[in-house]
Amino acid sequence: PLKKLKDGLLSVTSPEECKDAAGFDINKDKSSVSITVVGASGDLAKKKIFPALFALYYEDCLPEHFTIFGYARSKMTDAELRNMVSRTLTCRIDKRENCGEKMEHFLKRCFYHSGQYDSQNNFAELDNKLKEHEVLKSGCSRRNGGGDSVSVAGCKGRSATVTAVTAVTAAATADTPVNLNHIAKAAVTGGAIFRPSLKSRWGGRVSNRLFYLSVPPNVFTDAVRCASLSASSANGWTRVIVEKPFGRDFESSSALTKSLKQYLEEDQIFRIDHYLGKELVENLSVLRFSNLIFEPLWSRQYIRSVQLIFSEDFGTEGRAGYFDNYGIIRDIMQNHLLQILALFAMETPVSLDAEDIRNEKVKVLRSMRPLELEDVVIGQYKSHTLGGVTYPGYTDDKTVPKDSLTPTFAAATLFIDNARWDGVPFLMKAGKALHDQRAEIRVQFRHVPGNLYNRNFAADIDQATNELVIRVQPDEAIYLKVNNKVPGLGMRLESSNLNLLYAARYSKEIPDAYERLLLDAIEGERRLFIRSDELDAAWALFTPVLKMLEEKKTIPECYPYGSRGPVGAHYLAARYNVRWG
Ligand code: NDP
Ligand code: BG6
Repeated sequence: PLKKLKDGLLSVTSPEECKDAAGFDINKDKSSVSITVVGASGDLAKKKIFPALFALYYEDCLPEHFTIFGYARSKMTDAELRNMVSRTLTCRIDKRENCGEKMEHFLKRCFYHSGQYDSQNNFAELDNKLKEHEVLKSGCSRRNGGGDSVSVAGCKGRSATVTAVTAVTAAATADTPVNLNHIAKAAVTGGAIFRPSLKSRWGGRVSNRLFYLSVPPNVFTDAVRCASLSASSANGWTRVIVEKPFGRDFESSSALTKSLKQYLEEDQIFRIDHYLGKELVENLSVLRFSNLIFEPLWSRQYIRSVQLIFSEDFGTEGRAGYFDNYGIIRDIMQNHLLQILALFAMETPVSLDAEDIRNEKVKVLRSMRPLELEDVVIGQYKSHTLGGVTYPGYTDDKTVPKDSLTPTFAAATLFIDNARWDGVPFLMKAGKALHDQRAEIRVQFRHVPGNLYNRNFAADIDQATNELVIRVQPDEAIYLKVNNKVPGLGMRLESSNLNLLYAARYSKEIPDAYERLLLDAIEGERRLFIRSDELDAAWALFTPVLKMLEEKKTIPECYPYGSRGPVGAHYLAARYNVRWG
């Protein structure tokens, strides 16, 4: 199952193959990885990070020698952490074989250390505990009931996963352990874990460390400082996943980047945008660049407008404290939707290498026309009674000031001033407490020039232009609206869908975005993480308009909880002759 591709790349095409690959020497990973979840007592850690780590473990996608540490100020024993974590683990994988047993094994690899985020001493204590596990590895010599070790390589079925030849060659020429990060940088191009066979030369296992900063942003710099000064790996890589928000505007984001870079190199920083880890977002490039039929149409010549829609049918309950300081533009548009837009609109990258892709994304972002206030509509949800149930308004939340002007809804029209997209409106819409929950990309094509059927059957299809819909969630799907003859003796046309519904086509469950991204960070694959210049470009686009909205104290339009959002959004779209899908 392990295919040797050109340039020494190895490819495995399914998780089963990942397991089958066990006997293959090059994949026997003798390095260890310690994953520290900083802020382990928090909501994200419980909801997403630990479950994602378990899913990776379940699918044999974690390296053989791994340890997970929770770190936070709350006092907890290892047993209490395990108890907390166990409540959120689910066996979502199709066969659910040995799930209980696997959970038990997984939990045994989870530990906890309580400490302050700004205490180097506390991180030094963590460092000691990590070292104990890294050296002894008492609990993790074998898994799968003592079976063979399982490689991380290719468990996601991606090709170009292991540049084994390069990695080993680099290891052979390495002189000192302190060079490891640099060697890893050079050797790991396609997303491989750096796995040099150093044991014989340095007499120990390479200990790689990943820190996941799942804490509020005011703690980021302290935690990075202490982790990097007191708990960096001595002989392997140290990487830090940073959660959003990366600042509130261009200036604060640059300041954050600057302070993180006092302690970390850019390639150690993994800025997460979990939308990039969603299956359908990752598929965007595949759709565009490996199908002949889409890319030739992917320009102003054939595309009339593009909509990027995010809607949730619940409010900010539970997170309003955070939300009120950020608002929907910073929470969703500046990151999730803009990232999708960049992937959608970028030129063909030179290769699938992370830097090549990110170079193209930066170019698109930097080609965007400054956003004007008149091209933005903001809204805030109000209490509404639906079916006898009264849903609270945004400002009914105790943690939100009564006079808050924070938008919970926004719509905006953006333009990319380059040859491919000149004049094509990209309409973004993001809102909380709306009538439905979905994330979609809707591509509306132009009218068919001189349409024969319009001339002859005007009433039926005059308005029906082709539309490609990429439904990111829920019910992941890609469908294309085409005009079709209604079967029968007559000649009636209607719009029908060519539909690729994932649930019908693929029996396997789709991994959560956090699984993919965590695995990528462990593998050193940066493609789905945000580089600092991407972040700068994204903030440069939204900061002026955010400032104007705040300076002018623009009052958001009210919309009832559970509605379609403020009417202003419809006028905004109508200005560009677009109707929201
Ligand atoms: P929490 O508010 O739950 O905070 C995580 C942990 O950080 C807490 O358990 C607490 O641990 C510690 N903490 C909380 N407030 C402070 C403070 N003021 N000073 C120091 N420590 C504090 O955050 P989430 O888990 O919800 O989110 C973590 C990060 O991920 C944030 O940056 C958030 O914006 C981001 N994020 C969260 C999402 C979510 O769905 N929750 C989604 C996307 C991003 P202790 O007191 O034990 O130290
Ligand atoms: C987060 C936002 O980044 O994404 C939340 O902070 C939002 O406000 C969430 O609810 C949506 O993520 P998902 O994966 O549930 O669509």
